[in-house]
Amino acid sequence: MRLDKFLSKATELSRKDAKKILHAGEITVNDEVVKDGSRHIDIANDDVLWAGEPLSVAEGSRYILLYKPDGFECTLRPKDHPIVTDLIAVPEVASLRIAGRLDVDTTGALLLSDDGAWLHRVTSPKRHQPKRYEITLADPMDEAAQAHAIKQVTNGILLEGDLEKTRPAELSFTDETHATLILTEGKYHQVKRMMAYFGNKVIELHRASIGSITLDGLEMGECRFLSEAEIAQF
Ligand code: URA
Repeated sequence: MRLDKFLSKATELSRKDAKKILHAGEITVNDEVVKDGSRHIDIANDDVLWAGEPLSVAEGSRYILLYKPDGFECTLRPKDHPIVTDLIAVPEVASLRIAGRLDVDTTGALLLSDDGAWLHRVTSPKRHQPKRYEITLADPMDEAAQAHAIKQVTNGILLEGDLEKTRPAELSFTDETHATLILTEGKYHQVKRMMAYFGNKVIELHRASIGSITLDGLEMGECRFLSEAEIAQF
């Protein structure tokens, strides 16, 4: 949001008076005096002060990235484990919903929001958002097995019980038991079922990114609000 628009929303001032306080150098953004009303403000993360007092506008919906640890369930009706929302300290946490669940034993990037339309866009199969998974396999795959799997995954494979092949995906190996898989869809237990198709078993699974959103800067179990640009990509 533009700074001048932010100021008139966050204060009772008219646009004209908001311009005056800007030009008078009374506004700081992240500790820097800003006089340019066209400056873009990230309402979730930028710190805007007027004469030292914090300003904010009603944010409406919340958009959160959680670094999910192993052992947490992505459900509202937990059976045997704590639930992911136990890790998120925001008001009315129960109104958050999850976009693209992870298994209890999977770690990594999980998006949550109370904006239903946005959640729908994140998970919509039509949007083909790339999700990058890092996989540890139980059984080593030699070069020939790797090349075979890469080719099959590039063309799409028919998983047991499905009527349609998986969408073309990108598989690569760092060694015989470590692979990266980039999927643009989210079928039930997709990564584990794809590796089972090749007679293997996933022993560790980590989702490193969703679209351009990565876990950089987060420790396992921590969360943060998304930036406006991150929200807007979906
Ligand atoms: N695929 C799986 O098999 N499990 C997950 O948690 C995510 C993708």
